[in-house]
Amino acid sequence: MPQPFYITTPIYYVNAKPHLGHAYTTICADVISRYHRMCTDDTFFLTGTDEHGDKIMRAAKKENTTPRAYVDKISAIFRELWPQMNISNDYFIRTTDPAHGNVVQMILQRIYDQGDIYFSEYEGKYCFGCERFYTDRELVDGKCPDHQTEPEVIKESNYFFKMGQYQQWLIDHIHQHPDMIRPERYRNEVLAFLREPLDDLCISRPKSRIKWGITLPFDKDYVTYVWFDALLNYVSALGYPDDPRFDKFWPVAQHIVAKDILKPHGIYWPIMLKAAGLPVYQHLNVHGYWNVAQSKMSKSLGNVIEPLQLKNVYGLDAFRFFLMREMVFGLDANFNEEALVQRINSDLANDLGNLFSRVVTMAHKYFKGVVPESDPSIEAELSLGMPEKVAKAIDIYTREMSGFAFHKALSAVWELINQMNKVIDVTAPWELAKAKSSQPQLQAVLYNLLEGLRVISGLIYPVMPDTAATMQKHLGCAPDQPFFKMETVKRWKCLAPGTQLPKSTTLFPRVEMPMSAAPAETAVGPSGPRIELKPEITIEDFARVDLRVATVRGVTPVPKAKRLLKLEIDLGESEPRTLVAGIAESYAPDELIGKQVIVVANLKPAKLMGVLSKGMLLAASSGSSDSSDGSAKQTVVLTVDRPMPPGSPIK
Ligand code: ME8
Repeated sequence: MPQPFYITTPIYYVNAKPHLGHAYTTICADVISRYHRMCTDDTFFLTGTDEHGDKIMRAAKKENTTPRAYVDKISAIFRELWPQMNISNDYFIRTTDPAHGNVVQMILQRIYDQGDIYFSEYEGKYCFGCERFYTDRELVDGKCPDHQTEPEVIKESNYFFKMGQYQQWLIDHIHQHPDMIRPERYRNEVLAFLREPLDDLCISRPKSRIKWGITLPFDKDYVTYVWFDALLNYVSALGYPDDPRFDKFWPVAQHIVAKDILKPHGIYWPIMLKAAGLPVYQHLNVHGYWNVAQSKMSKSLGNVIEPLQLKNVYGLDAFRFFLMREMVFGLDANFNEEALVQRINSDLANDLGNLFSRVVTMAHKYFKGVVPESDPSIEAELSLGMPEKVAKAIDIYTREMSGFAFHKALSAVWELINQMNKVIDVTAPWELAKAKSSQPQLQAVLYNLLEGLRVISGLIYPVMPDTAATMQKHLGCAPDQPFFKMETVKRWKCLAPGTQLPKSTTLFPRVEMPMSAAPAETAVGPSGPRIELKPEITIEDFARVDLRVATVRGVTPVPKAKRLLKLEIDLGESEPRTLVAGIAESYAPDELIGKQVIVVANLKPAKLMGVLSKGMLLAASSGSSDSSDGSAKQTVVLTVDRPMPPGSPIK
């Protein structure tokens, strides 16, 4: 029987574009949603944008536009970013949606009618950044702790929500539900807040000051305080009060937020729910900050890292993996690009990528790419222990995923990867392949390794869905079969012997380490990642290199050199020249005939694999030249963008 599962991210303010912090929370929600869908839970994943209030009005004014046009523009940037991050949200809510406004008004009216809201004049210190009044106790050196600015003294009449009267109820509720707020440090933090008397919450703003908001149903001269409006998105998105989705999903609601908004979620929100006669959410999952050079990454500090830039440079799955593996959910983490590159090269290219390419390549080499049969008695004789290793990894993985400890769940998968790499080293399939008598052993080893990879592809799916799909394709898993369902992931021996596998592929090419001398926070700037440059040269130095356009007339492979091609090129000289280029892995000979390429025409001739090469062809290259890990280097020849006479100089 499928269990309902409901997960939400904060709805993000549309006063600035999304950054890595927003991407992290949303990817966490995506990972947990995909995991629950794998467990066949009936899952609802909500994200969206918070669009009312003074902050937004000011941002619109700064851009010389109306709040409406402004929120439409920035909300669309969030909405369009998420598919590019492979975010599988079921709904995207905007607080400017009329249906949301109706729910806010309905709940306000209910709470007002039962006498929990009163009108009063108030003079207090107001932080415009936070859009709320601060008590002296909350200020640090007279300043807002978040914005480091002195609040302004404001005197106005407003509506107040009697939060204080629910204080003891909330303390009791948290004690009765010990895992309501997790990890525990944040539960303790909320309980510590609650040790001080709780002030009533000002839930209105006069329209004379702010017009951009939801009008109070009982006073048309006031709009709703942005937090009272925003928090209700979690119920309005489910179609509260009439939609059956509310009855199904609300009892299992879980929120993910960072610690910056612990107080509204840990205190205001449960009290609002209680006052509205609704059950409290099940869990508030709180994570720490991504910092850059020890400061919180935030739009106000201007030190933000753009998620799309990292995706474009390093690939989406590598980026998602890094975020999930590097941050201990609940604690702060420091973002730096070196750590990202290191994770890609060691965990992805080396450990997972290498294991995958070793195993699939051996399946092709020894069994022509056909999944072999494995005899259980031979497996026992070899003591491979693969089902036990897999079961242990799955056990830890499921436990840690349920508790949002993504880093530990992934670490259990990597433990399995390491054990499988050891199985290869110990069983030495290349030795088994030497004798016909050890064929059954070779089959058993290879089958078990392929099966192990199939399990791994399932376990990494929530974090790296594209890589998981590529792995499954190369393991011969039919796309219409439930290979991404936990039940199938757990079942040992799902791969069908006799299945023909497609050729192996490189899952993760190695990437170059950015220059370590530069400060980490500028590692990815507007112009992308830094590159390691050679020492400066003068224009005279450069002028000594004779670069020319040449037309390729003939191409042949170089015997016994799988990377080399022999090219006959026309440089406008009396006879074609021969040169040798290391591009055979990127180009078929036919592709090059007739192409105009750029060559260094005055390079001292050199013999390569017995062929005299007179000149050098220019090519751009991505990835590492170190191929020991099996990663492919991408090589692309340089050409001209319009036809030129052969021999034309490049200046
Ligand atoms: O607070 N590290 O919106 P917001 C990790 N609209 N996560 C970060 C982060 C960082 N450096 N910076 C931001 C709001 N986040 C309200 C929410 S909900 C009813 C209303 C993430 O745009 C993290 O999830 O300021 C944090 O809680 C959220 O963005 C704040 O987003």
